[in-house]
Amino acid sequence: MTVSIARHGEIATVTIDNPPVNALGQALRRGLWDAVAELDADPAVRAVVLLCAGRTFIAGADVSEFGKPPVEPHLPDLVDRIEGAAKPWIAAIHGSALGGGFEVAMGCRFRVADEAASVGLPEVNLGIVPGASGTVRTPRLAGVAAAVELVTTGRPAKAARALAIGLVDAVVSGDLRTEALAFARQALTRPLPLPVSQRAIAPVDAAFWAEQETAVARRSRGAAAPLRALACVRMAAEASFAEALAHERATFLELRGSEQAAALRHVFFAERAALRPAHLKEVAALPLRRAGVVGGGTMGAGIAAALRDAGLPVVLIERDAGAVARGLANLQAIFDGGVRRGKLTEDQAKARMAGVSATTDYAALADTDLVVEAVFEEIGVKRAVFAELGRACRPDAVLATNTSYLDPRLIAEGLPNPGRFIGLHFFSPANVMKLLEIIPTPDTTPETLATGFALGRALGKIPVQAGICEGFIGNRILKRYRAAAEALVRQGVAIAEIDAAARDYGFAMGPFEAQDLGGLDIAFLQREGARAAGQQVPETLGDILVRAGRKGQKTGGGWYDYAPGQRRPQPSAEVTELLAGQRLSAVAPMKRAAIASQLVGEMAAEGDAILDQGIARQGSDIDLVEIHGYGFPRWRGGPMFATRNRQAP
Ligand code: 3HC
Ligand code: NAI
Repeated sequence: MTVSIARHGEIATVTIDNPPVNALGQALRRGLWDAVAELDADPAVRAVVLLCAGRTFIAGADVSEFGKPPVEPHLPDLVDRIEGAAKPWIAAIHGSALGGGFEVAMGCRFRVADEAASVGLPEVNLGIVPGASGTVRTPRLAGVAAAVELVTTGRPAKAARALAIGLVDAVVSGDLRTEALAFARQALTRPLPLPVSQRAIAPVDAAFWAEQETAVARRSRGAAAPLRALACVRMAAEASFAEALAHERATFLELRGSEQAAALRHVFFAERAALRPAHLKEVAALPLRRAGVVGGGTMGAGIAAALRDAGLPVVLIERDAGAVARGLANLQAIFDGGVRRGKLTEDQAKARMAGVSATTDYAALADTDLVVEAVFEEIGVKRAVFAELGRACRPDAVLATNTSYLDPRLIAEGLPNPGRFIGLHFFSPANVMKLLEIIPTPDTTPETLATGFALGRALGKIPVQAGICEGFIGNRILKRYRAAAEALVRQGVAIAEIDAAARDYGFAMGPFEAQDLGGLDIAFLQREGARAAGQQVPETLGDILVRAGRKGQKTGGGWYDYAPGQRRPQPSAEVTELLAGQRLSAVAPMKRAAIASQLVGEMAAEGDAILDQGIARQGSDIDLVEIHGYGFPRWRGGPMFATRNRQAP
């Protein structure tokens, strides 16, 4: 770590170099502390530009210090010291000024950003609130509404928006150091603005806070930090700077030691580790320039959209002309949805479509680096597709299957160069869901595996390696989870009560309402297939419902009834009757926390089996699968973390 000082006439630069992201560890805080003293004492210096070397401005406090007692100089004191320096400091921001990094920038008298920079307060993502005046200084710069949005969502603002709402004073193109020095010289020709801590906050009424409380509580589904961050901004608006700062710091220190913060730190580090697994550090991925997708249905279209979003040209193969047209229509619908939701402009959507060529002719795949198969879940169909791919593709092209349950080894049988074959299991909708299970076969080469991870990174996914077993990691745990939920029904617990328990725990949906949404028939057909193949698969409660025609929302009823055109689940008398013979009578009522604890305990038990069998490489991978593929509440850290760290149900 270095903090180096240079003089450019009457302007000094302070350059931080603390790779990889200039996190504000103790040594850096000390270095900046001393720099203020040195430059204050230098009569030749009239202003100071604060710059960072490397990929980014200060990305925040050093998260790895959070488990330890705070050490001086504390960050709030450092921010105050920079603000109180005898010479004005100007933050020159590139990359991301996040958390403590943005707080340091707010201690400066001015903030200048380059066009690609962003600023923000992502602390809630770590289960904490800003701890060095973020909630108190931000409303003084950008107003209460913008501050509330920044601190409760944790989403950063890009340079242009940051300028528009007052978080930065200028956005510059060209060399940041040169531009920031020029800005500093200009600034010295005018009276200085007040330090941020001395600026006023425009008041808002009580109704604003009530609305925000409801909205933030709804969005955060049990995560504590967003509401606490909101309370901090309210304090900033209603109390003195010093009182609000003290309140923020106390909240920060309290939350830093909380279970939720520990869980979110676990996820933070697990996600970063997942992108570049240690066992592949020395392995180079193959280049990915052009991709192919076979099958343009639900998954194929979603995968093609994800590839296009990452800028790769895509060849889409379907089985006949009608299916080609349907595949293209599926893709168009995805991009139209992006335009409707304001995620894409019309022109971007057009460009996305222009990069897709759809055909029935496998010869179009001759120059692709990677092809993902997403055709019907039938071994015969898939094997026929891979026979074609073996003939049409370059021998070094990576060939992947998106199968949910089939054994990838059987799909790959007979394929020339089986080392380039791999399972890439996307989740629906594939252009949205972050999880990507990567399933090597015993033949898959390390380069192919590394290419799977490189693809995951390119698509913005969380890639997790899984071994071969039925359902890999995620669907295998899902099966156990659903079985556990059904076991509770058999014990006499009401279906709606189980769903409510899961929601109270933090899931977006309970196990039964989620099945009604996705359809009960897929898992049913899979069980029927296994039965037809002679496997012993006990009758599930779901089977009873499907046999009675209740396949979920699409048939007007599954575990619940649905009024026509409605998505609100209503407890069903018919289901009660159908399952009457399956339930134990007169059980003691179960508390919701105990229900959730049982469900999550079963997930973790399956996770343990998965670890024992080497299907997952580490518990944190299982946590990532559940968080990014199955809606497990992030702030609980995943089932493995939650069960290891649970104090009481
Ligand atoms: N503390 C410690 N390590 C950090 C860190 C932090 N704040 N931010 C990133 N790192 C580490 C990562 O773990 C990773 O380590 P590895 O190479 O050993 O795996 C390395 O830095 C690079 O990180 P990324 O892979 O994420 O790099 P990217 O270039 O993709 O992204 C980034 C850069 C956008 C800055 C991203 O790292 C990020 O979002 N970091 C988190 C920022 C954050 O949450 N800041 C707030 C911290 S809390 C705080 O400041 C409290 C204050 O209010 C008192
Ligand atoms: P789908 O039925 O929506 O789409 C399958 C597509 O494949 C259809 O468009 C069909 O015309 C096409 N197709 C069939 N045979 C073909 C052939 N020989 N050549 C070219 N195209 C052909 O199915 P879905 O849901 O997209 O599933 C595809 C695969 O993805 C399956 O293996 C499934 O198990 C898997 N999967 C599905 C998930 C989901 O949630 N739907 C999630 C993850 C994986």
